[in-house]
Amino acid sequence: MPSVGVVGWRCVVCGATVDIAEPMVFRCPNATASDPFHTLQIVQRDEPVQCAANEPNPFVAYRRYYAWDSFAEAVGLSDEARTDLVVQVDAKVAAIAGTGFVITPFTRAAALSAALGFAADGGVWVKDETHQVAGSHKARHLFSTLLHLLVAESVGGTPWGDRVADRSTLAIASCGNAALAASTLAAAVQWPIQVFVPTNANPAVLVRLGELGATVTMCPRRPHDPPGDPCVLRYREAVAAGAVPFSVQGPENAWCLDGGRSIGWEMAGETLDRVFVQVGGGALARCVIGGLAQARAGRDGVLPKLHAVQTEGCAPLARAWRRALDGPGGLATAGARWGVCMTPWESEPHSAADGILDDETYDWLGVVNGLVASGGSAVVAPEADVLLANQLAGAHTTIDASHTGTAGLAGLLAIRGEVRDHERVAVIFSGIRR
Ligand SMILES: Cc1ncc(COP(=O)(O)O)c(C=O)c1O
Ligand SMILES: [Zn+2]
Repeated sequence: MPSVGVVGWRCVVCGATVDIAEPMVFRCPNATASDPFHTLQIVQRDEPVQCAANEPNPFVAYRRYYAWDSFAEAVGLSDEARTDLVVQVDAKVAAIAGTGFVITPFTRAAALSAALGFAADGGVWVKDETHQVAGSHKARHLFSTLLHLLVAESVGGTPWGDRVADRSTLAIASCGNAALAASTLAAAVQWPIQVFVPTNANPAVLVRLGELGATVTMCPRRPHDPPGDPCVLRYREAVAAGAVPFSVQGPENAWCLDGGRSIGWEMAGETLDRVFVQVGGGALARCVIGGLAQARAGRDGVLPKLHAVQTEGCAPLARAWRRALDGPGGLATAGARWGVCMTPWESEPHSAADGILDDETYDWLGVVNGLVASGGSAVVAPEADVLLANQLAGAHTTIDASHTGTAGLAGLLAIRGEVRDHERVAVIFSGIRR
């Protein structure tokens, strides 16, 4: 029995558990088409998170804490074989992306802190994901998924056994960073991928997806479609027909929650009062607070307040948070009230932060649990702050982040009056300007 790593999965809603040795489990076993309101979370052994010294790749440096690594151990891969797998696949990724996975910088932004009026003992720490694989944090979520798939395949634990030529296609719904990350990783291991995109997708992104060999499907809303994003509807149809879920949405692909935690682990070395995280589907915020909680537990246990930031043009999380806490039974029954708490944003979502315009916050329950556990809040940033945050980031740092990438900073601007000048605050510049 290993002493480190992940035991398995537990559904936040119904409590169902899945052993880590089970291959190809992406969703709660009790989730169905008529009751999709379930979401697995990782059950980790209680242990301090330690980073291997002088190791630049987070998938090597923190290897023993990942679910994919515990899965690989459970199905018989040695320590050496697991490290070799990461190193070899990372080299293939680097050949396509120009960089392999890296532990990204996390430092106090002095000029930005001064511009925002922070004291010398407080300020803004920026986690810079703009030079991660494919230019955003998204590849972290997908690399854990890919490593799990490769291990499952190597032991014949997939529907196609170990026959590489018979692989089911990967599927993802996204128009931006997640699609680029997914297609980059797929290209690295020559795995076919289908990407479901909206009709207004960025033409430059579509060109790059084509170069990476992805099969791109435009998804206009069809007359009889239920509410929600048509790209997600088409993606679910593909998965129901046998495609492998390769999305960055916890309820659809629990394996994405594994690699995303590394951002939180990498931030845990600083004692922080608050962390502002921009929220689209919510996997990033869920993973950051989860990773921080796990890593801080081995230190002083103090968790920074999580502020989950959306824009006024699309803010389904803030109202779900209120409905979860104010409804009958409060947070304890929120999972059972999923369909009532988290309803798709009705009007056409709009913001310069166009990467967080998901009309549903798929990982809302994990994020709301993080808000409550940390004493934080959901922040709705006015569009003027979204624009100002990006200008300030450009003027006072050397990081060239997109509006989505700086949207967490917009949340800080929106509630700057509540934040004392000596507080230590973190933001994640999560994606590069395209
Ligand atoms: C750069 C960037 N930051 C943040 C997010 C939000 O992540 P999540 O959808 O997991 O909430 C996205 C999502 O597309 C993104 O592209
Ligand atoms: Zn469940």
